[in-house]
Amino acid sequence: MSLPGATVQALPTGALPGPAATERAHLFTAGSVAHYRRVLADGIDRVADRVAATDRPFTGVTPQDLAPRIAGIDLDRPLGDAGAALDELHDVYLRDAVYFHHPRYLAHLNCPVVIPALLGEAVLSAVNSSMDTWDQSAGGTLIERRLIDWTVDRIGLGPAADGVFSSGGTQSNLQAMLLAREEALARAGIGQSRPETLSGLRILTSAAGHFSVQKAAKLLGLGPEAVITVGTDADRRMRTDELAREIDRCRRAGLRVMAVVATAGTTDFGSIDPLPAIADSCAAAGVWLHVDAAYGCGLLVSPTRRHLLDGIERADSVTVDYHKSFFQPVSSSALVVRDRRVLRHATWHADYLNPARAVEQRIPNQVDKSLQTTRRFDALKLWLTLRIMGPDAVGALFDEVVDRADAAWQLLAEDPRFEVVTRSPLSTVVFRYLPAGPGRQLVDEANLYAREALATSGAALVAGTTVDGAHHLKFTLLNPETTEDDIAQVLDLLAEHAGWYLRTRTAGELSCPVG
Ligand SMILES: Cc1ncc(COP(=O)(O)O)c(C=O)c1O
Repeated sequence: MSLPGATVQALPTGALPGPAATERAHLFTAGSVAHYRRVLADGIDRVADRVAATDRPFTGVTPQDLAPRIAGIDLDRPLGDAGAALDELHDVYLRDAVYFHHPRYLAHLNCPVVIPALLGEAVLSAVNSSMDTWDQSAGGTLIERRLIDWTVDRIGLGPAADGVFSSGGTQSNLQAMLLAREEALARAGIGQSRPETLSGLRILTSAAGHFSVQKAAKLLGLGPEAVITVGTDADRRMRTDELAREIDRCRRAGLRVMAVVATAGTTDFGSIDPLPAIADSCAAAGVWLHVDAAYGCGLLVSPTRRHLLDGIERADSVTVDYHKSFFQPVSSSALVVRDRRVLRHATWHADYLNPARAVEQRIPNQVDKSLQTTRRFDALKLWLTLRIMGPDAVGALFDEVVDRADAAWQLLAEDPRFEVVTRSPLSTVVFRYLPAGPGRQLVDEANLYAREALATSGAALVAGTTVDGAHHLKFTLLNPETTEDDIAQVLDLLAEHAGWYLRTRTAGELSCPVG
């Protein structure tokens, strides 16, 4: 329902006169293409202007500042006009959003996005194919399938491999664990009830692995003890001697290891678990190997570092997040499997949508492989990226950020103000401000303070994590435009904020923080 005063900018040619025309003019149809062109062009201009004017990744706005502005908007009183809505959007979103496009955004695993993918995003949302069935997507289905084949070829999973796009690494990992669980249950001895078998299932992953594995276990009805974390070495890679010991311990205790989850690019350290040795252990024990390459998948197209993923081709399933290291907009991920038959565990035939006879008729319905039903044609973004830029160009961008992270590590290693943790083969750097003198508690507080103060200033954004219980700071570099100079400047700012905190705390004085 539109309220009095709600008008569209201009009625498209061919629109019906009268009140219904006002509403219909907003529908994207053959009759409204001029309106579509105008509104979208205006939206693109606003975003372009905002990005062009971005001199820092964040304005430092607080939830308390922003919440009243958003709460104050009456959603039942539309502005009617796209220009007015975009003006309002500037105030409630565009001005204060966090801009991964800026070279001093160094915090989480968010990449700046490539323009071919943005073109894909515009096309896919306008055409609005749904990837569940052929009769809702046609060519989209085949494009997604080609990209899955391309990905499994890059990994080297073999001729029986297949997969499906998903909303992200969390969902891809969940689906992998579902498939592994069902395979383990199928192999479990007869005579045991399903709940009994479920309670004896275990997943082994490293202490540096992603929490989505724990979440998946919970969603799959496994108990809190189901995920066993295996210790890591000094480089934060899974210790294979410990893995072998755990597999053996589970076997002796009558527990069934349903999967080992190796990580190719841990979130904090960028470490890559020793895939060949882990694959050997899994093969010897007959255990499903899942490789979470949500972050490290960019190496699949790296002109110089593909070898770091050696062994990934022996996985039963692999998670890849194109929205992390392929410079794709959220969301864009896939789960791929060595043996396409295991995808049947995600299949359910519904008469109205994907009846079983469609399989005999060889109608390609992607819903048969996916946890989702209605699903975006996210694959189009990667398609246009590969068709316009090509894989080597994407890999070269990723290589650049990996090089930059190594340079950042060098800077930190030579800087007496800081202590740096492991040297990542990818693009994270974990470190902390550690001057001589203050105790552990104060150092922890100073690092926490420095991160927050930097974010409040908006000059740069860095992440934080704990290492062996101590607060640390983290750079995740994914923007090739970040220079060594940017990194040096951010380190100076962090040191100033942390130093100010320590001086203030030790002197018990109150004064203004670094501006
Ligand atoms: C190693 C790893 N796996 C999985 C995920 C989850 O991916 P998403 O955020 O796309 O769900 C992340 C996210 O950072 C990750 O770093």
